[in-house]
Amino acid sequence: MLQIQENVSLKNFNTFGIEASARYYVEINHDDELAELFSDPQWKHTPLLVMGGGSNMLFVNDFDGLVIRMNIRGIEHRISHNDVFVEAGAGEVWNDLVQYCVAHGYAGLENLSLIPGSVGASPIQNIGAYGVELKDVFASCCAFDIATCALKTFSAEACGFGYRDSVFKTGLKGKYIITSVKFHLSLIPDLKLHYGAIGHELELRGITQPTVKDVSQVVAHIRVAKLPDPSTIGNAGSFFKNPVISAGQFNTIKEKYPEAVNYPAAEGMVKLAAGWLIEQCGCKGKVIGNTGTWKNQALVLVNHGGASGTEVYALSSQIIDSVYSKFGVVLEREVNIIS
Ligand code: EPU
Repeated sequence: MLQIQENVSLKNFNTFGIEASARYYVEINHDDELAELFSDPQWKHTPLLVMGGGSNMLFVNDFDGLVIRMNIRGIEHRISHNDVFVEAGAGEVWNDLVQYCVAHGYAGLENLSLIPGSVGASPIQNIGAYGVELKDVFASCCAFDIATCALKTFSAEACGFGYRDSVFKTGLKGKYIITSVKFHLSLIPDLKLHYGAIGHELELRGITQPTVKDVSQVVAHIRVAKLPDPSTIGNAGSFFKNPVISAGQFNTIKEKYPEAVNYPAAEGMVKLAAGWLIEQCGCKGKVIGNTGTWKNQALVLVNHGGASGTEVYALSSQIIDSVYSKFGVVLEREVNIIS
């Protein structure tokens, strides 16, 4: 029997560590429980918030609706020649899945080591790090259709993946709940070592023939050095997306700031590093009340303890204004704002 609780604190369920409460709260341990939940029509007419690890959200208010915390567990794998298909429940902790695959020598997820959050959330924003995005290793996902109570399988194409984006954030927002994700991995590693400091760090360790495990360890090392650990300092990873601007606008910026960090994007477009833009505005490592930006990565906003969602949100607005005044570039929030 499903337990629906009332007025539940979400402080320990969001990595920002923001105090907020849910009017109603339920934990789902099996996909059958979603059908049971929505057999009561009241929930189809109540605002819903589906949570996994709560690692990509900022609560600006209490949530006056039903919070559904996805806790479906289980990891299964099937090997066919050198292909490995691993399917994990939406409630599995992302990094537990990565470590399971690394330990078995299944290659593909190693660059995504230590990303906070749950498996079920990973396709929604097409998580990515160190030159790999979820879409590169995605086979399919299974999702519950709230309107019809049926389960549907989504191919990569049906998910419409983009940079930190998918159909679950846009056209199908609020319509489906992801219950499991299947990954297409391999027994033959095709290691991606070119991004950022990976190659340099392997060199420092004297590793010339890296394994999947070496790459995972190096990525974890780089992340720990750069990013605050949410279990000690509340944060939700990158707060903004890296902005994509026209080549024309980029040329104007480059004339004044030849060192502007940039990456190729779609034709005629350039992606800028939001962390660099924010740092240039003098906002890196700034502490404002209980909140601020991280000292080693300006793109990460932090809760130094006791920050309210409103405080963090106000800081994010100030940063957007500063970057716009200096560069004429509009930063877009990547974290979900729950208001
Ligand atoms: N930079 C600065 N100052 C800063 C931060 C960064 O100058 O304060 C410069 C760096 O020196 C580097 C460039 O900006 O030249 C890019 O920095 P970094 O490699 O740290 O990556 P990022 O673009 O800031 C993205 C993802 C991260 C992911 C890293 C590594 C987004 C929004 N963020 O950050 O993802 O871990 O690449 O692949 O795409 C997340 O989404 O929550 C996240 C942490």
